[in-house]
Amino acid sequence: MATTCVVGILWGDEGKGKVIDYLAADTDFVVRFGGGHNAGHTLVLPSGKLVLHLIPSGIVHPHTVNVVGNGVVVDPVHLCSEIDKVRQRGIDIVLGKNLLLSERAHVILEAHRRQDQWAEGLRGSGKIGTTGRGIGPAYADRCARIGLRLGDLLRPERLRAAMQGLALQKNAWFAPSGLAPIDVEAAVRELAAAGDRLRAGIVDAGAVLRAAQKAGKRILLEGAQGCLLDVEHGTYPFVTSSHASTGGAFSGTGLPPHGMRVVGIAKAYATRVGEGPFPTELKDELGDKLRIAGNEFGSTTGRPRRCGWFDTVAVRYSAALAGVDELVLTNLDVLRGFPLRLCTGYLLPDGTRTADLPAFDLDVARPELIDLPGFSEDLRAVRSFDALPANAQAYVQAIEQHTGVPIRTISVGPERHQVILR
Ligand code: IMP
Repeated sequence: MATTCVVGILWGDEGKGKVIDYLAADTDFVVRFGGGHNAGHTLVLPSGKLVLHLIPSGIVHPHTVNVVGNGVVVDPVHLCSEIDKVRQRGIDIVLGKNLLLSERAHVILEAHRRQDQWAEGLRGSGKIGTTGRGIGPAYADRCARIGLRLGDLLRPERLRAAMQGLALQKNAWFAPSGLAPIDVEAAVRELAAAGDRLRAGIVDAGAVLRAAQKAGKRILLEGAQGCLLDVEHGTYPFVTSSHASTGGAFSGTGLPPHGMRVVGIAKAYATRVGEGPFPTELKDELGDKLRIAGNEFGSTTGRPRRCGWFDTVAVRYSAALAGVDELVLTNLDVLRGFPLRLCTGYLLPDGTRTADLPAFDLDVARPELIDLPGFSEDLRAVRSFDALPANAQAYVQAIEQHTGVPIRTISVGPERHQVILR
């Protein structure tokens, strides 16, 4: 199948950057379909670490066309500075050639960022723990039909009219809410300047992708965040505001639902940044130890990630939802010296047991855990499944058995070549 979609299986940070970088070597197009610069995709290149937030991870491969799809929300000012930073690393970016931006992608404004942080403040102890980058308000304005699209940045009259329309609605409640009103002229100036810089890249990306698919080009759809952060299917309301599961890959690119291979990325243990239910969370010293061993600190906000046991219930749910054909298991090397446990069901407060992810009450679900023997060997130089310690093999096989999804690829280190293919 020429089109592959890569999605995170839990709450993001599964190591998608590395997997996409690896797969992009054999790909013509790499396409982001959702989220914004709340994402942080880490690549470990021969020249060192590179964290991408908005630019697709294929940018490091000279032959790859990278597309920011219509489902992405774009902060144009951030994008300009991310392009500069990537160029400073010696990576060539030619807008219109190896970086295309959908003219339909919605724009994150400075006002969205302020609104995001203001709303989090109001939520108090019920806060979501957003990245504060304006993602939710930008998607909300898209649905409210007052948003701006990247194509507007190239059309001065439309840009001013759209900004005026948006400000009319928002300023009606910004001022009474203690938020500074939007300065339309200042926003127009800033957006037009960013539009000028990005002009050559702003195209009808959906049309380009449909033509590429028809021509048999290899397309890699790069999911951001993870299935459990999906606005509809995730752990609502502790989710992001986009369709992070496979469904978003169609609406967020304009590609039709033709055959697609879906690869799910799951870490060998579970992590979550921000608030929300996490049944297998380790709130003790072991959790702290795992955070250090796996360097589990957010690549966008630097926040410590919450760590816990691998949850086969959640992974099975997401794999079914996303239509996952195979899993990539990342960070297996990190579990060296740790006890190994898998969650295989939840106990609910009324005493019932479930092996399905509930839409409600996940916050009060208690995990049912099984123990497996651990391993003490360093896995980073292992390149074949048979060469893995028997206990590491048994752990992988137990995950396959409980999730029902084959694991074809295992990552045993941050670098490109630290991969086991089965
Ligand atoms: P927002 O996307 O900034 O609105 O944040 C909503 C929730 O999604 C918060 O819990 C964030 O920590 C989480 N989140 C957003 N993007 C990512 C990501 O790329 N990785 C992990 N968590 C994320």
